[in-house]
Amino acid sequence: MSDKVPPPIKNIQVKFKQLFINNEFVDAQSGKKFEVINPANGEVVCQVAEGEEADVNIAVNAAVAAFDRKSPWRKMDASDRGQLLYKLADLIEKHRVELATLESLDNGKPYHIAYMADLHLCIKCLRYYAGWADKIQGKVVPVDGNFLTYVRHEPVGVCAQIIPWNFPLLMACWKLGPALATGCTVVMKLAEQTPFTALFVANLIKEAGFPKGVVNMLTGFGPECGAPLAKHPKCDKVAFTGSTEVGKLIQGYAAENMKRVTLECGGKSPVIVLKDCDIDQAVDICHVGLFFNHGQCCTAGSRIFVEAPIYEQFVKKAKAKAMGIKLGNPMEKGTDQGPQVDNEQFEKILDLIESGKKEGAKLETGGKRFGDKGYFIEPTVFSNVKDDMRISKEEIFGPVMSIFKFEDLDEVIDRANETMYGLAAGVMTNDHKRAIQISNDLRAGTVWVNCYNVFDIRAPFGGFKMSGVGRELGEYALQNYTEVKTVYNAL
Ligand code: NAI
Ligand code: MG
Repeated sequence: MSDKVPPPIKNIQVKFKQLFINNEFVDAQSGKKFEVINPANGEVVCQVAEGEEADVNIAVNAAVAAFDRKSPWRKMDASDRGQLLYKLADLIEKHRVELATLESLDNGKPYHIAYMADLHLCIKCLRYYAGWADKIQGKVVPVDGNFLTYVRHEPVGVCAQIIPWNFPLLMACWKLGPALATGCTVVMKLAEQTPFTALFVANLIKEAGFPKGVVNMLTGFGPECGAPLAKHPKCDKVAFTGSTEVGKLIQGYAAENMKRVTLECGGKSPVIVLKDCDIDQAVDICHVGLFFNHGQCCTAGSRIFVEAPIYEQFVKKAKAKAMGIKLGNPMEKGTDQGPQVDNEQFEKILDLIESGKKEGAKLETGGKRFGDKGYFIEPTVFSNVKDDMRISKEEIFGPVMSIFKFEDLDEVIDRANETMYGLAAGVMTNDHKRAIQISNDLRAGTVWVNCYNVFDIRAPFGGFKMSGVGRELGEYALQNYTEVKTVYNAL
C-alpha cells in the first residue's frame, strides 16, 4: 500500500499558526501563544496563537454576521454551495502530501497512514457532502382543510465544533461537511495537540472562495477556548468529539440556551470471538481493531471475549502479531506505529498498564515505554483479563489489548453490554444466523461482523449510552445541522 504513496516533505515548515477569523489569520487578542510538540521526539515544533474568550466572541460574531439573512452565504444557491465544497476537496487533494506530512508531524501517526487513510477519507467526505448541498429538501404534507402545507429543512445556524487530536483533519471534515452542505456557519476549536492541518485547510477554505466568516478556526485550550465557545449564547448548535468526561460538560454548557448537541465520546468496545470463526482472520481483524492509530480510536476493540476452546490459541497468535509491529519514526517507510500523541496520554496509558499487572492480568508482551525519547509505548497484550479490572472498564486509548475468556454465549452478551459505553462492537463467527442475533443484542451504535473499523461516509456513526448523542456521517448527519420548519398557507 505504501508503495503508491509519494514521499513526505522533508523538514516541513508550519505556515499557518494563527487564529482564522473572517478569512484572515490573526493573533490572539491577548497576544498569547502556546507550544506545539512533536510527539516523536518531545521537541517544540513551533508556537501557535492561544485563543481565549475574547477571541471566541470575535469569531462567533463573524459567524453570526455570515449567517445573516442578507449575507452572501445565505443568498447563495445551494448548488453553488456544493461547488465550493467540491473545490475545497480538490484543493485538499492538491496539497495531500503537505497535509499528510503535517498530520504525521503533529499527531505522530505514520505518514503513509495519514496519506492513505486520513487524507483519503477527508477528501471523500467533503465530496460526499458537496453532493448533498442541493438535495436537502422537505415535503409537501396533505393536511385537513384547505391549506398548502410544506416542510422546509433550514440550516440550524451558527455551529460550534470542537475537535480531538486522534484524527485531527478527518474529524474536522466530518463536521465541516454537513455544516457547510446545509448552509450553516462554523466556529471550530481545534485540539491543542494538533492544530496544523486544519489551519492549513483554513487557508484553502479562503482560496476556494467561501465568503468571510462562514468558517472560523480557533486554536487554544479546552477550558479557556472550548468552554466559552460551547457556552456561547449566539451559537445554535455544538458538535463535539472527545472524552466522555468533557462531553458531559458540553451537554451542560449547551443547556443554557438549548443548543442542539451532538457528541461523539469514548468507548470500551467488545469483540466476541466464537469458536467456529476463522481464527487467523479473527486475530488479524482484532489486531487492527485495537492497534490501528496506536490504539487511539474511540472504536478500539479493547475487550476481546474469546470462546474457551480457542482461547489459548487465539492468545498465542494475537501475541505473535503484536510482537511484529514495527515502532519508529512516523515519517519513515515501513513504520507501523509512531508515538502516542502527548505526555498526558503516554502517562495515562502506562498507568493503566501498571494497574493491569497489579490486578493480576497476564502480560503476554509489551508493557512499557519504547526507546528513550518521544511518547512511544510497546504494543501490549494482556490475557486472563477479568471484568472488574481497571483495564476492562476504563478507556485506555493506547496500544493495549485485553483478552477475556468466555464459556457461555448468552452470558458473554451481558458482559459485553456491561459498560457505560456503547460506541461499537464486533462479532467473529461463520454462523451468520447467530451473528445477526448477537448484533441485535449488543447495545452499540456500530456492529462489525467479521470485520472491524470499516467506515463509510454514507453510513451513520455514533454511540449508544455514554458514547454519545446523535449521529455523524451519511444522511443522518444532515438532520443534526437542520431545523424543520412547517409552513401552512391558507388557500
Ligand atoms: P478532551 O475531551 O479533553 O479533548 C477533546 C477536545 O475538547 C479538545 O479540543 C479539547 O481542547 C476540548 N476540551 C477539553 N476540555 C474542554 C472544555 N471544558 N470545554 C470545551 N472543550 C474542551 O480529551 P483529551 O484530554 O484530549 O483526552 C482524554 C481522553 O479522552 C483520551 O485518553 C481518550 O480516552 C478520550 N478521547 C476520545 C476521543 C474520541 O475520539 N472519542 C478523542 C480524544 C480523546
Ligand atoms: Mg482533556
